[in-house]
Amino acid sequence: MDINGRELSKKIKNEIKDEVDKLDKKPGLAVVLVGENPASKVYVRHKEKACQKVGYFSKKIVLQDNTSEEELLTLIDELNNDNLIHGILVQLPLPKHIDSDKVISSINPNKDVDGFHPLNMGKLMIGQKTIISCTPKGIIELIKSTKIDMNGKNAVVIGRSNIVGKPIALLLLQNNATVTMCHSRTKNLKKHCLDADIIVAAVGIPNFVKEDMVKKDCVIIDVGINRLDDGTLAGDVDYKTVHDKVSFITPVPGGVGPMTIASLMRNTLECYKIIEGIE
Ligand code: GUN
Repeated sequence: MDINGRELSKKIKNEIKDEVDKLDKKPGLAVVLVGENPASKVYVRHKEKACQKVGYFSKKIVLQDNTSEEELLTLIDELNNDNLIHGILVQLPLPKHIDSDKVISSINPNKDVDGFHPLNMGKLMIGQKTIISCTPKGIIELIKSTKIDMNGKNAVVIGRSNIVGKPIALLLLQNNATVTMCHSRTKNLKKHCLDADIIVAAVGIPNFVKEDMVKKDCVIIDVGINRLDDGTLAGDVDYKTVHDKVSFITPVPGGVGPMTIASLMRNTLECYKIIEGIE
C-alpha cells in the first residue's frame, strides 16, 4: 500500500495555516539559492509556494554562481539580524568554491530551519530537543502514519549523508528501532535488507532496491528523486516490482518530497516561536 505523502503534507500545512492566521506577526522564511542547479530551482519554488499556502512571509534571494563566500556570509549576517526573518535556508549543494560547512555554521542556530548547524546536529545526537532536519523529520511522520510500532524493529538505512542518512538513523534509534546503517562500502547489502522491517533508501541511484532485496511486509521509505533520461522521475526503489511484496511504500513523486516541505513549514514556525519568545 502507498503511504500518501501529499495528503499528509496537506493536512499538516492546513493545521499550520490555522495557527498562523491567529498570529499578529507573520513568520518569515528566507531561502537562498546560489547558482543555476535545475533541481535546486524546483525545490526552492516548492518551498516558496508552501510559504504562500500557510501564510508566511517568504523572501527568496537568488545569487549568481560566481558569488564569493564572503558575500554569502555577509548576506547571512544580515538575515540573522533581520526581525522579519525567523528561518534561513541555504539551498544545497553550493558551488564548489564556497565552503558549505562554514556557511551552515554562520546561520543563527535558532533560525536554522534545516537543522544542519553543528549545534542542532549535536543536540539531535544526544537526544536533546532541537530543530530536526526536514527530510528525516518527514520520514518519521510517514512511518508513524502507518501505525506500525517501531519498537525493536530492524531498520536499515541505506546512505550516510548528513542531510538524510545520519539524522534518520538517530531518529529511528530514538524510536527504539534496531538500526543498521549501510552505504556504498557495505558488504552483502542484500542480507541486511532481507532482515529489515523498515528500509530507508537514500542512495541517489534509480531503482537500486529490487524486489529480491526486501522482506515480505516490510515498510519502504524511498528518499530518491532521480531524473531519468526520458524526463521522468524514479526513486531509489524499484517501485513496480517491490510495491506488491511490501506492506507500505512511499511513491516517487508524492511520498517523502511533500513531507520535507511540510516539515520545513513546521520548523519555520518552531523557529518563529523561539525568536519571538512564544511558549
Ligand atoms: N538540498 C537537498 N535537500 C536539501 C535540504 O533539505 N535543505 C537544503 N538546504 N538543501 C537541500
